[in-house]
Amino acid sequence: MARTSRKANRRHPLATVVLIAIGLAFTGGGYALFSSTATADTSTATSQATVEEGSKLFAANCATCHGMNLEGTTAGPSLLGVGAASVDFQVGTGRMPLAMQGPQAMQKPPQFTEEQTAALSAYVASLSPGPSIPTDSQLTENGNATNGGELFRINCAMCHNVAGAGGALTEGKFAPELTGVESKYIYEAMLTGPQNMPVFNDHNITPEDKRDIITYLKYIQNNPSPGGFELGNLGPVAEGLFIWIFGIGAVVALTVWLTAKSN
Ligand code: HEC
Ligand code: HEC
Repeated sequence: MARTSRKANRRHPLATVVLIAIGLAFTGGGYALFSSTATADTSTATSQATVEEGSKLFAANCATCHGMNLEGTTAGPSLLGVGAASVDFQVGTGRMPLAMQGPQAMQKPPQFTEEQTAALSAYVASLSPGPSIPTDSQLTENGNATNGGELFRINCAMCHNVAGAGGALTEGKFAPELTGVESKYIYEAMLTGPQNMPVFNDHNITPEDKRDIITYLKYIQNNPSPGGFELGNLGPVAEGLFIWIFGIGAVVALTVWLTAKSN
C-alpha cells in the first residue's frame, strides 16, 4: 500500500518539462500577439498623421496652382497620378513650390524639411497612385559602370552631354549638369521625367539599368577627365609614347635606307 501511494504522489519525470514548455508557449504567443498589434497600430497611426500633415501643407503651399484636389489650375498642371517620386523630386530639389513663371522651374534651396517633403509625397500618393520613391536597395552605387555608360550615351547624352555636364535646349530651357546630384533624385528624374525630359519607366530602363546609370554618373563624378583625347585614360604619356616608338622608329628606318642606298 505504502508503495502505491508513494508512487501516486511522485510526479512523472517529464511533468516539469511539459509545464515549462506550456508556460513558454503562452508567454511567447501572448507577446507576439501583443507586439504585432501594437506595431500595426502605431504604423497606421503615423501614416494617417503624415497624410494629414501633408494635406495641410499642400493646401497652404501648393493648392493655389495645383488645385485643392490635385486637379490642376491654369497656373499649374494636375498632379493626379504623378506619384510620391515626382513630389519628392520636385520639392526635394527645391523646384517646387514654384517661385516664378519662366521657361523652366528653377532649382533653389528646398523650402521644406525631409519630414514635410515626405508628408507632401504621402498625401499626393494617397489621393492617386503613381511611381513611388525608390528604396535604398535600388540606389546602391555598386552597379556596372560600363553598362551604365553605354545606356547613358544612348539615352541621356544628347541632352545632358556625354560627361553629364549639361546642355542648352530650345526656348531657354536647359538640361542641367548631373554631377553632384543625389542618387535618389537621378532615379526619380528618370522615373518621372521632369518637364522636357522623357519618362524612362521600368520597361524602357529596368531598375538594374537605372542603378548602372547612377553608378556611371557617380564614377565620372569621382574620376573627371582632364580633356583631350583620352587614349585609354593614360594621359599625356600615351601620346608621347606613340611619337617615341613610331616617330623615332621611322627616322631610324629612313637613315638606314638612305645609307644603304649611298653605298
Ligand atoms: C506658382 C504656382 C505653383 C506652386 C505654388 C506650386 N507649383 Fe508645382 N508646378 C507648377 C507648374 C507651373 C508646374 C509645371 C512645371 C513645368 O513642367 O514646367 C509644376 C509642376 C509640379 C510637379 C511635377 C508634375 C509632374 O508632371 O511630374 C509636381 C510634383 C509639383 N509641381 C508639386 C508641387 C508641390 C508639392 C507644391 C507645393 C509645395 C507645388 N507644386 C507648388 C506650379 C506651381
Ligand atoms: C530630351 C532631353 C533629355 C533627355 C534625353 C534626358 N534628360 Fe534629364 N533632364 C532634362 C531636362 C530639361 C531637365 C530639367 C528638368 C527640370 O529642371 O525640371 C532634366 C533633369 C534631369 C535631372 C535632375 C537634375 C537636377 O539637377 O536635379 C537628372 C538627374 C536627369 N535629368 C537625368 C537624366 C538621365 C539619367 C537621363 C537618361 C536616362 C536623362 N536625364 C535624359 C532633359 C533630358
